[in-house]
Amino acid sequence: MAFRADGAAAAPAAPLAGRRILVGISGSIAAVKLPLLVSALVQQGAEVRCVLTPSAARLVSPEALACLSRNPCHLDADQWSHREPRPLHIALAEWAELVLLAPLTATTLARWVHGLGDTLLASTLLACEAPVLAAAAMNTSMWDSLPVQRNWKVFSRLPSVLALAPTAGLLACDRQGAGRMADPDLVLLALESLALVGNQRDWQGLRLLVSAGPTREPLDPARCLTNPSTGRMGVLLAQAARLRGARVDLVHGPLSVPPGWLEGLACSPVQTAAEMQAALLERQPRADAVAMAAAVADHRRARPTATKLQKLDLERALSQGWEAVPDLLAQLVERRPAGQRILGFAAQSGDVLPLARAKLARKGCDLLFANPIDRPGCGFGGLSNGGWLLGPGDQVSALAQAHKLAIAHQLLTALHPTRGGPGRSPGDPAQAASG
Ligand code: CTP
Repeated sequence: MAFRADGAAAAPAAPLAGRRILVGISGSIAAVKLPLLVSALVQQGAEVRCVLTPSAARLVSPEALACLSRNPCHLDADQWSHREPRPLHIALAEWAELVLLAPLTATTLARWVHGLGDTLLASTLLACEAPVLAAAAMNTSMWDSLPVQRNWKVFSRLPSVLALAPTAGLLACDRQGAGRMADPDLVLLALESLALVGNQRDWQGLRLLVSAGPTREPLDPARCLTNPSTGRMGVLLAQAARLRGARVDLVHGPLSVPPGWLEGLACSPVQTAAEMQAALLERQPRADAVAMAAAVADHRRARPTATKLQKLDLERALSQGWEAVPDLLAQLVERRPAGQRILGFAAQSGDVLPLARAKLARKGCDLLFANPIDRPGCGFGGLSNGGWLLGPGDQVSALAQAHKLAIAHQLLTALHPTRGGPGRSPGDPAQAASG
């Protein structure tokens, strides 16, 4: 169960624990990032087998991958053997529950799209029915070329494929431009998403506006009022929506999440509640749905001091000169265009449900996710969350304590502009978790 009687939290299982993951590596220099990624999968408890194309084997050591994956690393020369009763590409294809194809080069992409099985990796991919996460990497001109773009279009629309296009930056060939493999932290996150909910595209064509992280209200140039929010829940919600096809605007305060998690999101970094308010109100009209996950400060200085306060003056300064921050969520609800759905959050302690019901009524949003921050595994910054999702009337459903990415996906399903709803399974998330 998620909450133990002694108050300690049983950590929810890592999304990839126990999953059989085939890692296919083709010959881009980004292959050098794969050993650490393979190690991260194994540390989550995944079972990993690696297959290298001949050019990948020149860039990254099969011996290192064998060590890190705790399994033999497979090369073209292994495909046929008089000692094996079954062809290796078929055995591997049937073994895999998930495939990570990274980096994906122009050549491996073309092989797949045109049905060529002339390497161990290419024939394994053709024979495999498991969902695939692919992260492309190549030189900018190669990526921009007509044949690659045409192949990518076909490939990224395959129902079993979640495809991450390369990002822009400095390439190993010294070009500045699109071609870098997606950040390994994002690749890992996308693979976890695939393991949790499969390749869902239900947010395709929709736009989501998300706020995340704390705000920082200055007292003077050296001090501020803020809170322990890391922004993890909001950023995961944003990235989960993007992986399900949405275009996402993310307005965020100072974050403590891996920078790679922000790739592919239209980010607007802010510091204060006033900046967050302006950024949200500007972006709201074009959004189909809004998720207000930010931990906005409740108070701010009416007039922040331009010079640093002396320690002796602090006590007097702290006891006066504050004003209430306007409720941004209530403002968004007031101004929303027809059909826009809005999700609020309630970080709550004590008797959560009555407080959350009152908050939902006060703010007027469609859905409110209330999490008991005084329970282990549900508070700020952790890997997991759990709580109750409240809707109109007395609708409430318990969301069992789970990895924050799993919670993000459940919230997105409920928030969906045409298919959403909070469901009706009231109860304690602890009970729900214990099944
Ligand atoms: N919120 C907001 N603007 C504020 C304060 C909060 O938009 N000035 C939003 C948060 O982003 C969240 C919801 O309102 O979606 C609830 O925030 P929470 O901090 O739980 O509640 P408060 O309104 O601050 O009330 P209280 O602190 O009394 O619980």
